[in-house]
Amino acid sequence: MQTSEILRESWATRVGFIFAAVGSAVGLGNVWRFPFQVGQEGGAAFLFIYLGFILVIGFPAMLVEFVIGRNTKLNPVGALQEFGGGAWGYVGWIFIVIGFVLLAFYSVVAGWTLRYFVGSFTGAYMENPAAYFTQISVGWDAVFFHAVFMLVTISIVAIGIQRGIERAATVIVPAIFIILLSLAVYAFFLDGAADAYTYYLTPDLSEITANWQSVLPAAAGQALFTLSLGMGVMITYASYIGEDRNLGEDGTAIVAFDVIIAFIAGLVVFPIIFTAGVSPADPGPGAIFVSLADAFAGVPLGWLLGAIFFGTFFLAALTSAISIIEVIVTYAIDEHDVDRTVATVTIGTLIFLLGVPTAFDEVIFGMYDQLAAEVLLVLGTLLIMILVGWIAAPRAKAELTKGIEKPGPFIDIWIWLVRVPVILVLIVSLYLALIGFADFLQNELVPWIAE
Ligand code: PFF
Repeated sequence: MQTSEILRESWATRVGFIFAAVGSAVGLGNVWRFPFQVGQEGGAAFLFIYLGFILVIGFPAMLVEFVIGRNTKLNPVGALQEFGGGAWGYVGWIFIVIGFVLLAFYSVVAGWTLRYFVGSFTGAYMENPAAYFTQISVGWDAVFFHAVFMLVTISIVAIGIQRGIERAATVIVPAIFIILLSLAVYAFFLDGAADAYTYYLTPDLSEITANWQSVLPAAAGQALFTLSLGMGVMITYASYIGEDRNLGEDGTAIVAFDVIIAFIAGLVVFPIIFTAGVSPADPGPGAIFVSLADAFAGVPLGWLLGAIFFGTFFLAALTSAISIIEVIVTYAIDEHDVDRTVATVTIGTLIFLLGVPTAFDEVIFGMYDQLAAEVLLVLGTLLIMILVGWIAAPRAKAELTKGIEKPGPFIDIWIWLVRVPVILVLIVSLYLALIGFADFLQNELVPWIAE
């Protein structure tokens, strides 16, 4: 059963929607995944390809989600059913599955940030940062902080769109911006800053030509992940906005904010890492935590910097987690007429349980991460690009035109970007990601099960 539009909540203000969407986009992806991908994929070369993909793929794909959401004013399952007809509702179901898998491990990492926040005050990670990470990232400690993080997320989402999500994001997003900017200024004065900037900002083109097979899908995947695309978050958030809004303008603001914050996070993280003498190319999810903890241990007032940094990190993760669970909650409310609080608590508890195995084993953690971020998000995005680009283009173009005073050639450029380059890059990325995932299953999961 579908709730009538009159009963459906909406954002209180234009800025509220933008902040909520930026809050979703800015998260672990900016502060944890982005610097770690830059390090793994060869520094500045990755940065430039990633920026290109944000423009050519991320921005058009975000408008696609906005158009579907605002046009149907429904959750992703209902929206795709209505927009595409027939079996398209099943594609929406993929989004629900992605939401469960993604938030399950995302919340475990967010739990680490909370653990480090607390650890800053006690100085727990200062003595032996590497051993500390191993100790807290796996086991009951990790489960406990995963549980706390899910509890906070559930509480905010249960309160609702305007009073919960919008209010939280309107405070948290500017705070993140100001804190990261201040930390970047601080990092500018560190000894390692000059080397860090060279590494971060001077692209070595030979890196791209030598490693394009891994750089391209990694950059495309990161562009989708950081903008929260591919699982219906932007469909859901846009389902709460009005027709008078210029989606092109709002999308530009959201993408710009997200990219600027990721870029600033790099300006904070790399000087700190270089000053601590840690190699930025150390791969693995723990690298950022270990090297930052190491760095905070070595500078005056490190505990305070650590607390500020990890606290900000936690808040950024929170507004993203909120958006992921909201997709599933909106579905339950719209399609099954479930009460918001009941829906949020039930779904949140299931996600918590699903995340528990990732808190106990690195291989399972890796499986969730790769499956959700590299395979499913790309698949989800690809399918809705096909829907909007090739199946329901006239309706999508008409929707995007609303609220834009002088669209000029913008609408046509957008639809052609979606139809050809976006779809091609996504197909190639999905292909490479599937090969990578099969490889992972064969070389890591199977031996792990056999053990
Ligand atoms: N954009 C978030 C981040 O950068 O941390 C992660 C994310 C949120 C991905 C929501 C996908 C999503 F649907």
